[in-house]
Amino acid sequence: MNQTQNILDVTKEQSEKKLMLEIVDLRKSFGNNHVLNGFNLELFEGENLVIMGKSGSGKSVMIKCLVGLMQADSGSIKVMGKDITKLNRVELDNIRTEIGFLFQGNALYDSMTVRENLEFPLRRHKKKFENLTDTTPLITEALESVGLAHTVNLMPSELSGGMKKRIALARALILKPKIILYDEPTSGLDPITSKEIIELMRRVQKQYKTSSLIITHDVDCARVVSERMILLVDGTNYAEGTFTELASSNDEQVKAFFK
Ligand SMILES: Nc1ncnc2c1ncn2[C@@H]1O[C@H](COP(=O)(O)OP(=O)(O)OP(=O)(O)O)[C@@H](O)[C@H]1O
Ligand SMILES: [Mg+2]
Repeated sequence: MNQTQNILDVTKEQSEKKLMLEIVDLRKSFGNNHVLNGFNLELFEGENLVIMGKSGSGKSVMIKCLVGLMQADSGSIKVMGKDITKLNRVELDNIRTEIGFLFQGNALYDSMTVRENLEFPLRRHKKKFENLTDTTPLITEALESVGLAHTVNLMPSELSGGMKKRIALARALILKPKIILYDEPTSGLDPITSKEIIELMRRVQKQYKTSSLIITHDVDCARVVSERMILLVDGTNYAEGTFTELASSNDEQVKAFFK
């Protein structure tokens, strides 16, 4: 193969990279509180995209709009090419099985065991798993991938904060999603546990070949996991680039994120 062909092939490969998520001109206000003012995002297959923004800047609102838990005022949100703002309930439910969502604050069910917590999404999306008679292999696989197979019969109250995050991740993984959304995966954790969770996120991406959107204000987390970053300021994309590009910026607002 000659060199020109090689270059052509590389360019073709890039242009053919699948768009997993696409948000265009997303707007959301609560009364006079204009939270999102035209936010845009593209997440490509296999990519780790980090969104950073100050507390209250609208990161969780954006992610809730993305999974249909909150309705945006305007804008389009496409998940693997489908505009979720135009889907009916059943279609929305189907597309949700492709997205694993790690909520800010875990959202494990306190009255359920680890096993029951992991079974919950399987039962909720019965259709996708109608031929599944025994949930144990899937539960074991998900728990093993976060290193917590031995906790299957424990209650959430018997787990540490870091363990709860891992179980929440196992619960997100059980549907074998193509996309994982992490809302503050390391908040409230000590630095060592944070590092373990970050390592786990990287391992999961390799093992399951997922595309990830990671919301964080943890600079260490952003440095280790991000391939690309978006800084959210005043409800819109203030800056975009790799960690190295943004961390060396001379812009005062950008610099503030890395202090
Ligand atoms: N259901 C709601 N009703 C009214 N206002 C809301 C609602 N949800 C969020 N907001 C407002 O939207 C703004 C953005 O909130 P959001 O939770 O998205 O912030 P965040 O960037 O995720 O912050 P943090 O880093 O603290 O998690 C805040 O001003 C918040 O008060
Ligand atoms: Mg939040």
